[in-house]
Amino acid sequence: MSLAQNRKIAMQPRILMCPPDYYGIEYEINPWMNRLIGTDPLESTRQWRALHATLVELGVEVSLVDPIKGLPDLVFTANAGLIYGSIFIPSRFRHGVRRGEEPYYSSWAATHGFDVVTLPEPHYFEGAGDALFCGETLFAGYRFRSEVGGHQWIGARLGVEVLPMELVDARYYHLDTCFCPLAPGVAIYFSGAFDTYGQSVLASNIEHLIEVSAEEAVSFSCNAVVVGSTVILNDGSPELAHKLRSIGFVVKPLRLTEFIKAGGSAKCLTLRLDGEDAAGWHATTLNQGIAST
Ligand code: ARG
Repeated sequence: MSLAQNRKIAMQPRILMCPPDYYGIEYEINPWMNRLIGTDPLESTRQWRALHATLVELGVEVSLVDPIKGLPDLVFTANAGLIYGSIFIPSRFRHGVRRGEEPYYSSWAATHGFDVVTLPEPHYFEGAGDALFCGETLFAGYRFRSEVGGHQWIGARLGVEVLPMELVDARYYHLDTCFCPLAPGVAIYFSGAFDTYGQSVLASNIEHLIEVSAEEAVSFSCNAVVVGSTVILNDGSPELAHKLRSIGFVVKPLRLTEFIKAGGSAKCLTLRLDGEDAAGWHATTLNQGIAST
């Protein structure tokens, strides 16, 4: 059985990244971060470059936002905002230490052909870290970072169905740490990050749900980047890699341990600009004519 998508990609996939020049652990806003442990800048750069090179090899056009001193988490571009066609909804970060990132991402989006649509106060919202399309539906995580009210506003503004799900384990504080759509109707997830209601929402709305074990979920296995039928995973997920290969995906494991120290991995380091492969919409099908960078 092959669940890997054979969708013909008319346009080159486009992803936004930010080089890790000023990446580090300067504060602690999730259980993974420990200022006393810190990061190794050389190794962080090596790991980030390997991810960048892998995406380029896969034919992705990678755009870069300039790194900024004093904004160590700017490297996690998944948190820039949510993209839908030519619309960019910027994040409003829960923690003050990340709020300084907001103007940089918004100005990048505004100067690269996106219409910046601002979420009304007072909602917190952390972009593609907490809002992921699987088919036509936007699956949305809340509690630690984003709020239900913000997700509902976004659903109404975009005219899409939104399914908010509560995240219950502080280690999986963003939805993209415990859930990853692979194709319409296909996703991986770690059940322990959701309450029973959230688990039933996933089970009744996604036809093929692939469960990740607790042992592999802590290696950020769910924080994967999907490009066509290729899945880039943090290494340390042999069981999941095996399951994905058996349904037709090509798996590329990468070592991203330096970024796990801040609570992120492959997916957090990327923002898909033209629509995720699992999303029912795509920049070309919405026909919004986003200018290429
Ligand atoms: N240190 C960052 C934070 O806590 C990590 C963000 C990871 N991003 C993600 N999309 N899960 O905000």
